[in-house]
Amino acid sequence: TYVVTDPCIKCKFMDCVDVCPVDCFYEGENFLVIDPAVCIDCGICVPECPVDAIKPEDKDTDGKWLAINTQFTAVWPNITRKGTPPADSADFERETGKFEKYFS
Ligand code: SF4
Ligand code: F3S
Repeated sequence: TYVVTDPCIKCKFMDCVDVCPVDCFYEGENFLVIDPAVCIDCGICVPECPVDAIKPEDKDTDGKWLAINTQFTAVWPNITRKGTPPADSADFERETGKFEKYFS
């Protein structure tokens, strides 16, 4: 499976959503996640993300993002069409460690 990782947080550009053939993105206020149980590993969404936030789960060595994607898929609504990104998206493009900074 692929997972959404830290660069998505507070950027949420959503270009990934429109291309997914199995509609497995879920939307939170500040970022999206992928349902790992439904993703078919096609990789089509990867180059769509302007901040390179979508990674194969095997590059996420400690399983942190797999856990986060699984956890929020269960509680957030499914999204199948690109919406409007936050007005201040660009301000967070180069920031790292955003999950720890803003959500813990
Ligand atoms: Fe959807 Fe394919 Fe991306 Fe998985 S890799 S989330 S199936 S577009
Ligand atoms: Fe996030 Fe990139 Fe999609 S910023 S919403 S993973 S296009």
